[in-house]
Order: sequence, then structure tokens, then C-alpha cells
Amino acid sequence: MFTYYMPTKVFFGKACVAQSGDVLADLGRKALLVTGRHSAKVNGSQAAVVEKLDELGISWFLFDEVENNPSVATIRKAAAFASEKGVDFVIGIGGGSPMDAAKAIALVCTNELDDEQLFTGPYGKPLPIVAVPTTAGTGSEVTKVSVLTNPKAGTKQSINTPLIFPTYAFVDPAFTESVPETVTVDTAIDALSHAVEGYMSTASTPMSDVWAEEAMRFLGVHLTDLTGDVSPVVREDLLYGSTLAGITIAQTGTTMVHSMGYMLTYYKGISHGRANGLLLPAYMKLMEETMADKAEKVWAILGLAGLDDFTALMKDLMGDTVDLSDEEIKKFVTMTLPTGGVQRTPYPVTAELLTHIYQQLIGNR
Ligand SMILES: [Fe+2]
Repeated sequence: MFTYYMPTKVFFGKACVAQSGDVLADLGRKALLVTGRHSAKVNGSQAAVVEKLDELGISWFLFDEVENNPSVATIRKAAAFASEKGVDFVIGIGGGSPMDAAKAIALVCTNELDDEQLFTGPYGKPLPIVAVPTTAGTGSEVTKVSVLTNPKAGTKQSINTPLIFPTYAFVDPAFTESVPETVTVDTAIDALSHAVEGYMSTASTPMSDVWAEEAMRFLGVHLTDLTGDVSPVVREDLLYGSTLAGITIAQTGTTMVHSMGYMLTYYKGISHGRANGLLLPAYMKLMEETMADKAEKVWAILGLAGLDDFTALMKDLMGDTVDLSDEEIKKFVTMTLPTGGVQRTPYPVTAELLTHIYQQLIGNR
């Protein structure tokens, strides 16, 4: 038995906001725009949304202070601003951080939640959420997860509820054209990681596998096209692949790769995609033992000869080693073990195994 639920209405393609944005009028008369400091202003996404809102006579208020890996404090500040303005819905424009922030803000606007309840619920209905991705990676436009930084817990933590699936996602590849090289690589590997982890998960289903395979097909063909000038055609494939990978993890969640990677991001400042990319080869090595048929399928879809090929490619894209002390590894292992990502890993995960994988990242020690 399995379930499939993905209620977000997706508009995909060039100029989708201009063409299909009239549906925003269904959501109310006042909108909060949630962005980072810069990119939404230069890649055309904010302008496209504002033009449509103005055309529809919808008032809008801008909160453009979302940092990378947004904090609970930022969410509360934005929610207070949104409540003061009396907004009816929230539009997140940007990479994963502004979209995840928009989801959490929409939830905090309608729910009294202390810092612990924010991650556990129970939740009532949030304000309607609209997502406009400007990177090809997170897939947050089609997921029910918002990943935040919680200094009280000393790590990244997730809000996970079907209530925060965006109502609408406007997915326009033109908004990703000015993404710089390091972000293009990081986000593409994050998307690949979503597809691979969703495929290689105890929570995978026949329906999620369809999306995972299709995502790997669109991402895999471009893994050697991520540096230098990236053409609009490649950008479109990457964004399509990342949205499909998002639909996959909306069904399956992620695995120990993301759980382990969160530690590298929170404590070592390693970007989210790179953290996943550093860990993926070790994960696939385990999967070759427990999910051999699917592992073979992954290599075939990605056009690779096997694990060695994949490891070399990741090393090429992610750079080599990470500096980790024994104390850090011990702490990361203790924090990673109880996570859902570990539970969804189709392999008997032990502290020794996690320790070994973290140690491998250090290189020659
Ligand atoms: Fe991710």
C-alpha cells in the first residue's frame, strides 16, 4: 500500500507568471513577498511577480531579509510584519531559503507556536503559499517541508506538514539564467541528491520512482555541463529535473545523506548541495549492497559505468576533502543517528558506519 499526494498547481515555462499569474487573484488582496537581499531583484523574478500583482490590483509588501539557511528569528520578524500589514497570502521568491521561509511565515501568521511547536505542530491551516524558484535545486516549490536553522537545537530542523505545500508554483527557467557557477553546481547536485535519495529510500513507491527516474534523466545528462556558460536549454532541463526531484522527495523524504549533510552545513559552513555531493558516493556504495538492481538503474540513467565513475565525477564537482576533528565527528554522529533520514535509509545504519563515512571525508589522515 502506498499513497501519493502533491496538491501544488505547477505552471512551468518561460513567462509563466505573466501568462498564468491571474490565478493569484483567488488568494486575496494583499500579498507578502519574501526574498533574499539581492538575486530576486536582478534575475527578473521579483519584477515579474510585482508586475502581475499591480495588474491585478493586489497590494504587496516586501520582506527581503531572508538569509541562507533562514533562522527562526527571521521567520518571526517577517510574520510580525505580515500580520501588521494584514496580508492574505505569502509569495516566496528565490532559492530554497526564501521559499522555505515563506512556508514557515505563512504558518506562523495563523498559528500560535513556540520555538519547539514550530517544528512539531499541531498546526492549523497556514495562509496560502506561492513559490517562485530562481535556482534549480531545492524543489521546495513542490514540497511540504521548510528547513530552518534553529540555534536552540544546534542544527537545521524541518517543519514537515502537507499544509505547507504551495498552492501555486511558478517555475520559469529564465529566472535561473543569471545563477553563478558555484550555485549552479551546488543546486544541481542537491537536486540530483533528492532524486537519488528518493529512489534509494525505504519510503520510495512505484509512483515516486517514476518521478525520480525522470528527474535523474534530465539532471544526469547535464552533470558535465554545469561549469562555464550554461545555455538556457540546459537551465530549463535542470529546473525541470529539480522540480521532478522535489515531487519525489515530497513523497519519500530524504535519507541519511541529507541528515549527515545538515551537520556539515550548520557546523562547517559547507553549502547544502556540496555537503550532499560529498556524501552521495558513500551512500551509493551502501546501496550497491542492499538495492543492487536500483543502483544499476541509476548508473544506466546517469550514463555512468558505475560507482567509480560517479565518485570521480562528484570529486570533480565538489572538490576534495573536509577538515573534521574526532570530537566533531562524534557530535555529528550522535545528532544524525536519531533522524528520520537515517530511518529511511535502506541499510543497517550504525554509529560506526556514520563515523567511517565522516572520516572518509577528511581524506588522508
Ligand atoms: Fe536538499
